[in-house]
Amino acid sequence: MKKTILTGIKPTGQIHLGNYIGAIRPALDLAQEPSYVPAYFVADYHGLTKIHDPNEFRGLSYGIAATWLALGLDPDRTIFYRQSDVPEVFELNWILACFTSKGLMNRAHAYKSMVDSNEQMNRESNFGVNMGLFTYPILMAADILMLKTEVVPVGKDQIQHVEIARDIAESFNHVYGDTFSLPDYKIQEGGSVLPGLDGRKMSKSYHNTIPLFEEPKKLQKLINKIKTDSLPPEAPKDPDSSIIFTLYEAFAQPIEGTQMREQFLQGISWGEAKTELFNVMNRFLEEPREKYNELMEKPMILDEILKEGAEKASGISAPFLKEIKGKMGFRV
Ligand code: ADP
Ligand code: TRP
Repeated sequence: MKKTILTGIKPTGQIHLGNYIGAIRPALDLAQEPSYVPAYFVADYHGLTKIHDPNEFRGLSYGIAATWLALGLDPDRTIFYRQSDVPEVFELNWILACFTSKGLMNRAHAYKSMVDSNEQMNRESNFGVNMGLFTYPILMAADILMLKTEVVPVGKDQIQHVEIARDIAESFNHVYGDTFSLPDYKIQEGGSVLPGLDGRKMSKSYHNTIPLFEEPKKLQKLINKIKTDSLPPEAPKDPDSSIIFTLYEAFAQPIEGTQMREQFLQGISWGEAKTELFNVMNRFLEEPREKYNELMEKPMILDEILKEGAEKASGISAPFLKEIKGKMGFRV
């Protein structure tokens, strides 16, 4: 029996290299495994917790869809959809909310860290918290449970959310009998944390990202901005503590990585290292960038592909929701 493997990305910013290395690339590899049915989606309703500008919201949502496709996701072999096109997810969201204790949400990290930072800044603790953000993990549980997901590939920051989905599923099963299978998370292999321009984790929250499909000139400029030390060109440099080397290794062939490591140890100027980095990145990104730009110009193609994916998703979710509601005493 094939296992459903599901993951979503929320449209709250431009996809950057960290998202690619940490989330998209490993998920694309998993999608190739014959034992899995991949269900990958644009978590647009999750994005709404943050983005309230319609044009930006639309653009970012299409951007996520175009990114997956440009990088080679095969929609024929994937359930590839937009969350908001599968209404059963939202019905389930409410049902699950009625099985989720408020205390569980109080402990969810996205909400908690917002409260903590408000308190540090002497603001009212719930400042800027909308109920979408507070109940974010319930909608994520609905995403996961609605498609009978067994495996959720995620970054470390999302483990808690998958555990919450399990807790909610158990609460429901306890009352109505075995209904939901309990999902497991899968930490992305090779999904190491990619540093950003300033050396901290690359993240849109830190404004230190390199967007994945940046135009070559801008890409070069951003690479030139990467912080380096003031060692002279001929001085040996430590590859393992260098952002430039980490990025280089992520995009180069293994043999090129080994050679670059040698060059670092022997002494390479930062300027030269940055040029080499640009070359390997651009070599890899050229083709997907072109495809991405093409798709972004034809959102109707994206709509069509996503719609077909939503139909596949509803093929699972509609009968399952009926079964769930039947158990609860709804007339179905
Ligand atoms: P951001 O930190 O920019 O807000 P998200 O939280 O939306 O990114 O992350 C989307 C996915 O990309 C998650 O699975 C996350 O683990 C992964 N990810 C984000 N930044 C990085 C990074 N710098 N290195 C590796 N993976 C990352
Ligand atoms: N919360 C995830 C993130 O921020 C996105 C997401 C929404 C998701 N629903 C999901 C991930 C279901 C996995 C499964 O990255």
